[in-house]
Amino acid sequence: MADLSAPSVRIEPDPDAVARAAAGLVAEAAANAVAERGRFTLVLSGGSTPRALYSLLAHRPISWERVHVFWGDERCVPPEHPDSNYRMARESLLDRVPIPAGNVHRLEGENPDPAAAAARYAEEIRRFFAPEPPRFDLVLLGLGPDAHTASLFPGSAALESPGWVAAPWVEKLASYRLTLTPVLLNRAAQVVFLVAGRDKAAAVEAVLRGDESPREIPARAIRPEEGRAVWLLDAAAAGREG
Ligand code: 6PG
Repeated sequence: MADLSAPSVRIEPDPDAVARAAAGLVAEAAANAVAERGRFTLVLSGGSTPRALYSLLAHRPISWERVHVFWGDERCVPPEHPDSNYRMARESLLDRVPIPAGNVHRLEGENPDPAAAAARYAEEIRRFFAPEPPRFDLVLLGLGPDAHTASLFPGSAALESPGWVAAPWVEKLASYRLTLTPVLLNRAAQVVFLVAGRDKAAAVEAVLRGDESPREIPARAIRPEEGRAVWLLDAAAAGREG
């Protein structure tokens, strides 16, 4: 198991610089994956931080017809809902690039049975990668002030799920979420955390320099088995802002 001290940490001056650095990593990974295997599998993160990255990616020379996008998590809302991670990615990126509809693998947040939506997504992932086990080329993740990532929140049973996709009840949100699990995320070739803002500094410190368990600090559950982890932080999230 990779040592968490192994992740590479890049500190950029501000959120726009974080987005630019991330766009470079995604474009490079896409070019390498397409050259080597003819396709690039990208897991998108939700929340607000990645929006600037997605807008930049719309203008990068990426072979979108070779790209397959998935989501690391989704809110249990319809795809046109303002809280939908799919909607944010569609508006900032997917509607602006020539990615085939069949290459967009959406989590069904609208499904009234979250557990069924999770099972269907796991099966879609299994079928997509078959006969090989799943291994995403690049996974984008964010970090909450409580050190949650994707929809893996402190104390969540999803952190220890043996499955690939879970549908945890999140007490603090009083709602279900759909989320990929550490078992699946840690199979990725590369995981890139995008974190900006002073409100994330304590969580970043706890993940990268603390020793609490993943049950308390969920992002500590993300330790790619063979791949690499990269943390792109702005100065504020790195605790370097005055
Ligand atoms: C979500 C995300 C979540 C997010 C963090 C950070 O669905 O909300 O997947 O894990 O990455 O909460 O969110 P911000 O980027 O909005 O700070």
